Amino acid sequence: MTDWGTGRYEHTAAQLAPAAARAVEAADVQPGDRVLDLACGTGNAALLAAMRGAQVTGLDPAERLLDVAAGRARAAGVEVAWAPGVATELPFDDGAFDAVLSVFGVIFAAPAEDAVAELVRVTADGGRIVLTTWTDGGAIAAGSGVLMRAVVAATGASSTAGPAPRSWGDPDYVAGLFAPHGLVPQIERIPHVFEAASPDAFADEWLEQHPMWLAARPLLGDDGYAGLREPLIAALSAGNEDPAAFRVTSEALLIRIDRA
Ligand SMILES: C[S@@+](CC[C@H](N)C(=O)[O-])C[C@H]1O[C@@H](n2cnc3c(N)ncnc32)[C@H](O)[C@@H]1O
Repeated sequence: MTDWGTGRYEHTAAQLAPAAARAVEAADVQPGDRVLDLACGTGNAALLAAMRGAQVTGLDPAERLLDVAAGRARAAGVEVAWAPGVATELPFDDGAFDAVLSVFGVIFAAPAEDAVAELVRVTADGGRIVLTTWTDGGAIAAGSGVLMRAVVAATGASSTAGPAPRSWGDPDYVAGLFAPHGLVPQIERIPHVFEAASPDAFADEWLEQHPMWLAARPLLGDDGYAGLREPLIAALSAGNEDPAAFRVTSEALLIRIDRA
């Protein structure tokens, strides 16, 4: 499992903050609600829910990110309980939360079926689950594909060894995960904009700071890793909407599941 505490995931987390706001809004978080931010990273959704007066817990396997999240909570003057752990084995009682949020988080847990069973288990009757996932179109997905193909080629695997989060971008796949629990997701497609000074700057941030990219460097070797820069910049540039800088629009799914 990738250690998302490697590098500086903080940069990407800042770019994902608008999606956390959409998720908290979609969950209609109310004062006093018991809320879990699952795979909280640096705590984007947890902090927003706590600012609404909810009793929030943030869980993530990356302890360095939990430390960053705790620092952010202190700076914002909100209380959040931080817990190390993984989505497939949640250290919480059945029905412990009124709302469970996961912003581009649970999509990395494997097996996905086990993570979904845990999501459902810890959500109280009458509670809701709100998730965001990426679809597989656009320049960001194309850029990620450069990494995935290189890892597959280097390892000889028919697919990446880790989970394939982009299958979560297929509404039928998501519906199939929740169907065994008798639950039907409501799914909305939402745009998400990424910006940087240039395609090169965005690529270099990924190559030098992003934990998923850094995790591939030992597999590919320094030369193989450096060789990703050119195709990555080409993939990002192909979708660039701002010739003077870098701006691309990705598509995400905003998913709400109500537990009867
Ligand atoms: C793309 S980041 C999203 C973080 C945060 N939700 C945000 O919006 O910035 C993915 C997060 O999933 C976490 N993660 C990866 N595998 C996990 C697992 N099996 N169980 C729980 N969290 C996991 C990582 O540590 C990382 O913080």
